[in-house]
Amino acid sequence: MSQNLQSRAVIVTGAAQGIGLAISLRILEEGLSLIACDIDEEGLSNLKKHDKDNRISTYKFDVRSVKDVAHLFEKLKDRKPCPFGLVNNAGIFPGMKFLDYKPEDIDQVLAVNLIGPIHITQHFCRMVLDQGGTGVIVNMASIAGQIGSSDAIYGITKSGMIGLTKTSAMSFAPDIRVNAVAPGIVSTELQKSVPKERLDQFRKGELIKSPILPEDVADTVWFLLSEQSKHYTGAVLDINNGFAMR
Ligand SMILES: NC(=O)c1ccc[n+]([C@@H]2O[C@H](COP(=O)([O-])OP(=O)(O)OC[C@H]3O[C@@H](n4cnc5c(N)ncnc54)[C@H](O)[C@@H]3O)[C@@H](O)[C@H]2O)c1
Repeated sequence: MSQNLQSRAVIVTGAAQGIGLAISLRILEEGLSLIACDIDEEGLSNLKKHDKDNRISTYKFDVRSVKDVAHLFEKLKDRKPCPFGLVNNAGIFPGMKFLDYKPEDIDQVLAVNLIGPIHITQHFCRMVLDQGGTGVIVNMASIAGQIGSSDAIYGITKSGMIGLTKTSAMSFAPDIRVNAVAPGIVSTELQKSVPKERLDQFRKGELIKSPILPEDVADTVWFLLSEQSKHYTGAVLDINNGFAMR
């Protein structure tokens, strides 16, 4: 394993399962180091079992907590070189209808899916720029942020992730590239909260019929983290089997 690659680290939020886990394993496969963050301690311990050569650091944190986020970056401060990559992946899909949302539920979804990523982006960009480095961010949007969602607040947060991507691409160019992926329906735990009628609509509208797996999303995220995407910033890459071509 090249020492040079090992010194390059990527922070992944929501790394314990689903798409975040697939992205984490892909980063390890590519020979880089991983800073895996999640609220799920047990999931993080399971991920740590993949650590054969000390390339995984795990941090239990709640993306909703300003304190937890600040603490994470305080711990990362002395890491040299500082992590060059960030994948804002953690997210929740409560599967609720617009009018069923209580104010506190709205706050929760906004906090996990959008406000947390904004705080993390600020910390990450400050860290990279303070060290005179360069970086790359990949944000987890969704087709729900492009065409609307059966869960309105979720859809709003995912549109927000597209806004965050474009705004931060503009703010931090050329030092930090910022892109997003917008998956359709991906086979994970989260998908189980999507109503059956909505899933059926997706299945009907997909031009390619093979299910989108977390590993498929990880392929595109890896492309955006890698030098192969050096001309991309502010882009949103659809991973949706041709559903809703624009
Ligand atoms: N599965 C899909 O169909 C789909 C489609 C489009 C976009 N996405 C997006 O992909 C991302 C990952 O989704 P997934 O399908 O892998 O979901 P998942 O539920 O399988 O995994 C989400 C991960 O985020 C973590 N997490 C949740 N709340 C957290 C918090 N407060 N602090 C820290 N970590 C927290 C969970 O513990 C879990 O490990 C989400 O942002 C989701 O919106 C998913």
